[in-house]
Amino acid sequence: MVSRKEKPLSQAIRDRRTTPHFSPAPVPEEDLQQVLDAGLHAPSGYNTQPWRFVVVRETKRKKKLKKAAMDQGRVAEAPVVIVACGDSADLGGEVLEEMLALAAEHGYGDQAQHERVRKNFPKFLAEVETAVWLNRQVAIALTHMMLMAEALGYDTAIMEGFHEDQVKALLDIPASAHVVALLCIGKLKGPDKPFGGRFHRRRTVFPEKWGEE
Ligand SMILES: Cc1cc2nc3c(=O)[nH]c(=O)nc-3n(C[C@H](O)[C@H](O)[C@H](O)COP(=O)(O)O)c2cc1C
Repeated sequence: MVSRKEKPLSQAIRDRRTTPHFSPAPVPEEDLQQVLDAGLHAPSGYNTQPWRFVVVRETKRKKKLKKAAMDQGRVAEAPVVIVACGDSADLGGEVLEEMLALAAEHGYGDQAQHERVRKNFPKFLAEVETAVWLNRQVAIALTHMMLMAEALGYDTAIMEGFHEDQVKALLDIPASAHVVALLCIGKLKGPDKPFGGRFHRRRTVFPEKWGEE
């Protein structure tokens, strides 16, 4: 359901900046849940949903997280920091069966399709680099969250500047998981970061074949 206060998607995309400072204004629970829901609604390979999100709000813990995040002040300033991870722990048969049961519950897929998935997914996984695959899934979910936060009138800062081992130790993240990024959410304090521009699309978008104009 679309809330009355949501910005149109095109405006959310245009308005979003990596926020330089956050005010202490809280993110109400209902809005936070809506942001998380947006991420959990994202697509993922074989619908395996290997993302895990640790939602950090306690002041003391955020201060420690800030240290692990190369002392980036926004981690302590923002009322909410979502630590986005990808977990390789249960990518074997169990998660597939869970996913297939969920699909059946929703009336999706027949026996033949399910058998194909059981056969294909392990082969597919054996061919990709797990960390790359996990990053791909989690990044898409994070993007959904970032834009939903913006649509609801919040500001965000996504971060890759952190020491993974320190973040994992602080939040009890298991060895099987990779920390993909931190997402700070709150309200901008002071002037926003100016738009830094984007390369001309001639440099980054090719019709039909790489390098063609
Ligand atoms: C995956 C990712 C990680 C990033 N990590 C950091 C970070 O650790 N610290 C930071 O200040 N900005 C970080 N940024 C923000 C980028 O510098 C920023 O997106 C870019 O300069 C474009 O600015 P804009 O987001 O305001 O459009 C990150 C962005 C992305 C997408």
